[in-house]
Amino acid sequence: MLNDVTPRGLLSLLLIASPAAAVKLWATSYNDHALYTLNLAYEGLTVTSKSLDCGSEPTWITLDKGSRPFNDDATLETLDILPVLKSPGQRRAIWAEQQWLGRRSLRYVDLQLLRRQEHVEPGPVPERDLHHGRPGPVPDRQDVPHLHHTILDPTKKFIVVPDLGADLLRVYALQQGSIEWTEIDPVKAVPGSGPRHGVFATAGPKTFFYILNELSNTISGYRVTYKRGALKMTRLFDFSSHGPGGSVPAGTKAAELKISPDQRFVIASLRGENSLMMPNLDPRNSTAMPSDPLISFRIDRSTGALAHVQTAAAGGRNPRGFNINKAGTLVASALQDDNRVVVYERDVSSGELMGVAGWATVGEGEGNGPNYALFDE
Ligand SMILES: *[C@@H]1O[C@H](CO)[C@@H](O)[C@H](O)[C@H]1NC(C)=O
Repeated sequence: MLNDVTPRGLLSLLLIASPAAAVKLWATSYNDHALYTLNLAYEGLTVTSKSLDCGSEPTWITLDKGSRPFNDDATLETLDILPVLKSPGQRRAIWAEQQWLGRRSLRYVDLQLLRRQEHVEPGPVPERDLHHGRPGPVPDRQDVPHLHHTILDPTKKFIVVPDLGADLLRVYALQQGSIEWTEIDPVKAVPGSGPRHGVFATAGPKTFFYILNELSNTISGYRVTYKRGALKMTRLFDFSSHGPGGSVPAGTKAAELKISPDQRFVIASLRGENSLMMPNLDPRNSTAMPSDPLISFRIDRSTGALAHVQTAAAGGRNPRGFNINKAGTLVASALQDDNRVVVYERDVSSGELMGVAGWATVGEGEGNGPNYALFDE
């Protein structure tokens, strides 16, 4: 459970010792409204630049691999600032999926899935209606739709949008070669679960979908099938984000869910637990530090079941967003309540997080700091 730097960790650190192999990352931070560039080398993780052009609450970032709008050292230059609609109470999801869109002019598609009665300014694509149905069982979070994520399916023909407010996985069928889409039957999530972030997993001919539920602090797994132009999901399980039979302390809010690049593991981050203690990252300080968990599960590729692998320290409090590098060997965790980004080594075959490859102070001001970290690759 304690993520010490193990001999094995040190060994692979040597592999990133040469300057050419240095790893670059970006992290967003709320408090100081900044997008940071970081460099991971043998000496550790350091902040190398900071951009303030991303508005008041930079949260989620994605990389446009084609045009690389940044310099070789990953410092950023602002190319353009596009207006988007203000989020009316977070009922909207922005979708920027270069893989499907492929065309620069269509890079930023605002789904604008808004309630019919809501007044909105005209946007770049037509408004869409969002039918909510009845409010969910958690009144203070489920009085209105709350779209939380946009996920392209492996066939690149559907977008799944978890609606935390309506306990639905909304499904949109994309029209080939255009930015048009049609809403098809949604998948019903568990009532009161508050679906937040999800991932698809492919295993040979099989496709599974896992969704981390913020309100119930559970993970639901689905088998995905395609029939006559529709995407169908059949729920396989719904259990604690700590694994079957697990429980979470009051105040926990499930945050992020990622799949490993080899499609064999998923990792969930939980916020507000601070149930783990980890060795201080400052070697001169012997006081242990509180941490929320990153919880790894192995995917059973024939059934889609998840088996708990490891509950590891996330590197501090409130790991709202994290990412895995393409090789699956590093995990960058953004700790919103600790103004810290920590990069862990990861064992690709066991799926376990290992030693700390580097950490840096990111964000200025009390708490509410870094919330997302992304590798430059
Ligand atoms: C040592 O670490 C603890 C826990 O993070 C922290 O509260 C304390 O301020 C640190 N002490 C010093 C001298 O930095």
